[in-house]
Amino acid sequence: MVRVKEGEKMSYSKEVMKRFKNPKFGEKMKNPDAIGEVGNATCGDVMKIFLKIEKNKKGDEIIKDISFQTFGCVAAISSSDALCELAKGKTIKQALKITRNNIVKKLQGLPNLKFHCSVLGEKALKTAIENYKKKKK
Ligand code: FES
Repeated sequence: MVRVKEGEKMSYSKEVMKRFKNPKFGEKMKNPDAIGEVGNATCGDVMKIFLKIEKNKKGDEIIKDISFQTFGCVAAISSSDALCELAKGKTIKQALKITRNNIVKKLQGLPNLKFHCSVLGEKALKTAIENYKKKKK
């Protein structure tokens, strides 16, 4: 469990709170092409990312749809929502390049203590893409 030390600031940006209260991508997907599930070693929380993948006219595989489900904190929910928005419509190659810094930037910052939460979605997305590639073989 992550504890806030006395005197330590733990305030979230407006963007974090907006996504936490009303996530656009926070739902289980029916018939996904791939699922990535990871746990957070720091706090024990769990994250699942669901993907629908399609080929575009050029033959590149793109993330047609993406959603998440988590038993995680405010930061995990909002950072996964931001990650989904960043990844939707991207090619698999582009999506693999999304980092937690991109996510934190989209959230207009995250308290230092919560950086580990932003890693959950990123790892789950990478796992989902790996699982998709394995399934294709
Ligand atoms: S405290 Fe577990 S994901 Fe944030």
